Amino acid sequence: MRQDSSRHLGPISNRYVHIAFKTEPSDGTNPARTGLALDFYRGPCMKILIFGKGFIGQRCADAWRDEAVLSDVFVLTKDDAAREIARVKPDVVLNAAGVRGVPNVDWCDTHQMETICGNTVLPLLLADACQDVGVYLLHIGSGCIFYGDSPHPDKAWREHDFGNPLPTYSRTKWAADLALSTLLNVGIARIRMPIDAVPSPGNLIDKLASFEKVIDVENSVTVIDDMVSVFYQLMLKKAEGVFHATNPGTVRHRDILALYEELVDPEHTNEWIENEQLVALGLAVKDRSNNFLASERLNTFGIHMRPAQKALRDTMNRYALAKRTMQQAVPEPIVNRQ
Ligand SMILES: NC(=O)c1ccc[n+]([C@@H]2O[C@H](COP(=O)([O-])OP(=O)(O)OC[C@H]3O[C@@H](n4cnc5c(N)ncnc54)[C@H](OP(=O)(O)O)[C@@H]3O)[C@@H](O)[C@H]2O)c1
Repeated sequence: MRQDSSRHLGPISNRYVHIAFKTEPSDGTNPARTGLALDFYRGPCMKILIFGKGFIGQRCADAWRDEAVLSDVFVLTKDDAAREIARVKPDVVLNAAGVRGVPNVDWCDTHQMETICGNTVLPLLLADACQDVGVYLLHIGSGCIFYGDSPHPDKAWREHDFGNPLPTYSRTKWAADLALSTLLNVGIARIRMPIDAVPSPGNLIDKLASFEKVIDVENSVTVIDDMVSVFYQLMLKKAEGVFHATNPGTVRHRDILALYEELVDPEHTNEWIENEQLVALGLAVKDRSNNFLASERLNTFGIHMRPAQKALRDTMNRYALAKRTMQQAVPEPIVNRQ
């Protein structure tokens, strides 16, 4: 059974987007396209200026292809940003720049100023430059501003909840959210634990598969294919305020590695340890943020993400295919059923 439908999403700077939706059966015959497979068919549409050439910025640029301009500029001042915006003349700006720490987020606790500049000062410089010329800014936030359970009965954190961060990285991300969320023409999309069909060091699948000792925690996650679609739609709609760009439902590390063993590498093994042992064994300096995010505001803009477990299986199938062919899966932008 195959259905096609299409519609126009309206004018953007005298241009428009035409998106056609296609659904295919989940019969497993094509591992790269099981489940809901949707293609973008676009006319001339947005010009998206992306700051930050790292994992997320590069993945977005790959997905949006000729609509994206991935900036080479390392922004230290508002003028740096303003000059680049004047040169590119984008419809919208995505801030995918930031400091996450190398080899991991613990680095941020001993490099506070670098982290503050990258995660708090930089987004404000970009916002200032964008506001001057009336360009919409979408900033990538993090769900790691929340630690533990929320005060709500379902324990999930809402977009309007106040963060409770302790480590430097999380505090600097929360500080940016606090300030940016006061501005019009600015959106903040919080992501968590990116899961991707393209193998890479930033991919949660690669990270977990590389660890000898793994904690089995339950979290909200962001599947990259859904994320690029959500970012795109938020920018299209110039949606303001905070959004939780996490797939509905939760995923345990055990779910990810079980699927990895089923679909990618049956020989894979690891030792399971308790969450408390992570710091005790010296595998991390501080406890990591584990939490559930409720995504309530995307729906109000007609934007949806696939259920986390379904998206995980589909992504792991495509990841396995990419591994098997030793080629990176061509990122395939998707738009969710509306
Ligand atoms: N990946 C995740 O797990 C995750 C989860 C939640 C939220 N996020 C957020 O998503 C955003 C992107 O993360 P990512 O995973 O793509 O990180 P990444 O791979 O470390 O990329 C960040 C990029 O930003 C660049 N950058 C830093 N300061 C800059 C500046 N002043 N001007 C221009 N570029 C600058 C970095 O350049 P250099 O390498 O040259 O420093 C790097 O290329 C960050 O805001 C992060 O907090 C990521």
